[in-house]
This record gives sequence, structure tokens and C-alpha cells, in this order.
Amino acid sequence: MRHIRIFDTTLRDGEQSPGCSMNLQEKLEVAARLEALKVDVIEAGFAISSPDDFEAVKAIAGMVRGCYVGSLARATEKDIDRAWEAVQGAEKPFIHVFLASSPIHMEYKLKMTPEQVLDRAVSSVAYARVRCADVEFSAEDATRSDWDFLAKLYSAVIAAGATVINVPDTVGYTTPQEMFDLIAYLKANVAGIGGVELSVHCHNDLGMAVANSLAAVKAGATQVECTVNGIGERAGNAALEEIVMALHTKREYYGAETGVETRQLYRASKTLSGIIGVTPTPNKPVIGANAFAHEAGIHQHGVLANRLTYEIMRPEDIGIPANKMVLGKHSGRHAFEDRLQSLGFSLSAEDLNAAFEQFKKLADRKKVVSDDDIAALISDRSVEIGDGYQIVRFIVNSGSTVPATAAVRLSRGEEEREDVSLGDGPINAAFNAINRIVDGAFALEGFSIRSVTEGEDALGEAVVKLGRGGETVTGRGLSTDIIEASIKAYVNGVNKLMARK
Ligand code: KIV
Ligand code: ZN
Repeated sequence: MRHIRIFDTTLRDGEQSPGCSMNLQEKLEVAARLEALKVDVIEAGFAISSPDDFEAVKAIAGMVRGCYVGSLARATEKDIDRAWEAVQGAEKPFIHVFLASSPIHMEYKLKMTPEQVLDRAVSSVAYARVRCADVEFSAEDATRSDWDFLAKLYSAVIAAGATVINVPDTVGYTTPQEMFDLIAYLKANVAGIGGVELSVHCHNDLGMAVANSLAAVKAGATQVECTVNGIGERAGNAALEEIVMALHTKREYYGAETGVETRQLYRASKTLSGIIGVTPTPNKPVIGANAFAHEAGIHQHGVLANRLTYEIMRPEDIGIPANKMVLGKHSGRHAFEDRLQSLGFSLSAEDLNAAFEQFKKLADRKKVVSDDDIAALISDRSVEIGDGYQIVRFIVNSGSTVPATAAVRLSRGEEEREDVSLGDGPINAAFNAINRIVDGAFALEGFSIRSVTEGEDALGEAVVKLGRGGETVTGRGLSTDIIEASIKAYVNGVNKLMARK
């Protein structure tokens, strides 16, 4: 079996896409999940793009063990210096240098000739290699580039010291057969290709990112770049969980496998969607809510007789627990801890105590606490901002014949403040009252509420996108009361924006 390296770029290509930005604490939480997944490579960010990104890359480099941690850099000395400054503390650092190679990018974006691009790529890789033992080179928009030029470019950067060459389908334009042929061509025509990793990086504009990545593996690629839940620019990147489970389920066909701990996939997916407030569609392969649900009678009958009739993967292999023992207000600590473990969560004693307390409170309000409730509770805990505003109490009043009003009381440290406001509805009134307390001009750029599970007593999860001064953050709140969930989400967003400032 060939080992296929999984290169995760959730924290770089994923994080840079709209609505997916994360603060430092959230990035560290995602990085910890990637470490637990045992991905081979983590692209932690683009160090030169902002001071926050730099700090995040540096912190992840210092924290993660067992896999490569790197930063993206344009093909300039300034970018490479900044990337190296951020990643040099990693156990296994790398620098990822990219430069476009397609005619349209070279002419209109870079305003460089192919010869200039080749020279810049070589000098940049050589510059990075003096600093770092592992250097990846990406020919941006490779799939719309001239194949002969690509082969020359990759041969030259390998001679200059690149240890990984990456073939990005930047605009999601290619098809599986074309990708197979391109990789086969590069294998036959790039000098020194046998001595380096051959990587692919596919975007999903035509819905073929995963298929294109797998075709590349079939043709001999040794590394796949992907993101958790497939987040990324425009239609996203190839989804990590789909690549991993395709290679796991069809390993004989591909003659290849990954080192990913598949039982951590569910938790990684839940952690990320909880943080960015973007839940994968129910029919999303592998981790969608319906990925293992059998509705049709014929299917249910088949699965009851033998699950292999309609299931090609086992939910347990993804970390979705098979154990359906019901948890509720009579459940003890052991049962709760046991369920947490089967969901892939291992908490410190202190976090476990706090989580158990929250579970008990929830069990008082709900008859049955589901796995989704528990996963939501745990990711909700990770978004708290220590020294920010806390909700002391709120009262809202609304109806068809009275204007909506809200009174909200918040505390911060020793100080408590209360204010009252009108609004178009109870949630708007509460948000207005909070704005008056925190003296904030926050723009509500998005608001959604969904129930985590089904039933009248379901937990509601509110997500707000809150902006100020060109920055947007995601705030989340969880409660069986949707107004409380909304207020929590708003306060969480306010705290995040204030922490950034
Ligand atoms: O899509 C792309 O081309 C990229 C490169 C920087 C690898 O993200
Ligand atoms: Zn990309």
C-alpha cells in the first residue's frame, strides 16, 4: 500500500473564505483536532497576510506535535522571511511558496513573462530552502497552464531544492480524466520527480474536487490537499473526510491508504462547524446528518437484515457512536463520560466537571439529551471568551399589539450595566439593548437559528455574523430558549470583536 499524505489547509485556504474566519483560540482548537486526526501536514495560515495570522501560525507551530506545520508565502523574500519567522519553532516546519503559471495569470495578474516566472520560482525556492528543510512549491492555476512549461518549471524548482511539488486546480476547472493525464504526464516528464512528494490541490467549482484528487492519486500523486467539511474559496476545497473515507473504503482499488485516525472525523467536523457557524448540508457525504440515515422502508428492511446491504462505511469508523443508550436527567457521570469518549472527546478533569454540570442543566430542560446536543454543548464551551461580557439576566416583551421591548443586564468583571430598548421584534430589541450597554456600533451581517435536534424541547443554536471596522466574526449561542440562544450568540460576537481590538 502506498501512503498518501493528507495536507490539511482548513486554517489557510478554508479560513480565508467568506464567513469562515476564526480567532486565535478557535484556530488552536481546530489545530488540536487536526493533530488528533493525525493528518500529515497542517497549513496553519498565511503569515504575512496579517499580524493575527502570523501569531496564529506561530502558536500552532509551537503547539502541534507529530505533523508538519507550515505557512503559505508568495514568491518574494519578504513573504518567505515572515513565513519562516512564524514556523521555525515547529517540530517539523515547512514553507509553501506559490507562483502562478497559467498564461492568463502570468499576463494579467503577475505581468511577467514565463521566463521571469521560472527565474522567480527558482530563486524563491532556493531562498526558502536555505532557511527551511522542507519547501513546497505550487504552480498556481496549474491545470490551465501549458504542460510543457509546467514540466520545465517543476523540474527547475526541484533542482533548486523543493521537496514537494503541488499541482493546484485553483479555479476548479479540471475533470478526473484530465487530472489523471496531467499527473501521469508530469511523472513522465519532470526531472527528479521520484525524489519529491507529488501533491494535488483541487477546488470544487464544478463539484469534482474530490473526484479530481482521487484521480490524481490513481495516477501516482502522493499527497492530497484538502479541508475539513470542504470549506474554502468559492465552492470550497476537496473535503478531507471524503478523501480519507474514499481511500479507506476503496483501499484495494487505489492500492493506497492514509494515516488518518478516521474515528476523529466526526468530532473534527462538528468542532469546525460549531466554530464557524456553518453546518454541512444534511446530505453531505460522510459527516452530513443524513449520511447514515435510512428512510425508505426497503432500505430499512435491508439494513436490519444486514447493514452491508445499504451501508458501505460503518458510522463507528467515522466516530459516530453506534451506542444508542439514551442519556437524560437520571444518567450519571460515568455514562456521560463514556458517551463523550465514544464521540471522540477527551476532556481534562476540570472541563469534564463543567461539561457534566451543563449536561445536567440541559437534562433538566430536555427529556432526552442526544449525541448532537452533547457535541453542541462541548463546542459551545470552547467559544467562551474569558474576560468578556456575561449575561446576568434579560426580560423581553413582544406581541401583535405591543411594540417589542427588551431589558438586558450584562456584567464585565466587577461592573454590571443594564439597558432597555425597543425593536422590530424581541431579538432585535435585545440586540439593540446590548449595543447600548457595550457602546457598540456593530453591524449585524447575518443571523440564523436552527434546532440542533428534533422535538419540541430541542436545543436551539443561534449564529450571528457581527462586523465592525472591516472585521467580521461569528458568535454562537445555545439554549432551549431561542431568545436566550440569540442573546448569547450576540454577546459572544461582541466579546470576540472586543478581544480583537
Ligand atoms: O488554489 C490555489 O491555487 C491555492 C494555492 C496557494 C496552492 O490555494
Ligand atoms: Zn486553493
